[in-house]
Amino acid sequence: MENISYSSNSSVTSPVFPKCVRVCQNRTCRKQGAAKVLEAFEALPTPEVTVTGSTCLGQCGNGPMVLVLPEMVWYSGVRPSEVPLLVEQHLRGGQRVTKMLYHRFHPQG
Ligand code: FES
Repeated sequence: MENISYSSNSSVTSPVFPKCVRVCQNRTCRKQGAAKVLEAFEALPTPEVTVTGSTCLGQCGNGPMVLVLPEMVWYSGVRPSEVPLLVEQHLRGGQRVTKMLYHRFHPQG
């Protein structure tokens, strides 16, 4: 039987839930430019952060949608030109970019 393990030979303790960015690549968000948003994230890799395209995040029409896990921070209408700010301030600096937050889930900003 094959052993499925992600850290079988590592003495370093990895975070159980590393930070992850999901960039919706489903139909509606793609029409709104999500592919370029994903490219912008991939051009700015951040240690300890995984960036992946995702299926529909259930918020169609407000995209491109970006979800930061495990904090469950949502950004809507993200433009490629805004990605460097999001990477620098949130992913590297730990501070949400208030003006980009998705109002539906973060009504107080
Ligand atoms: S297509 Fe992106 S949230 Fe549904």
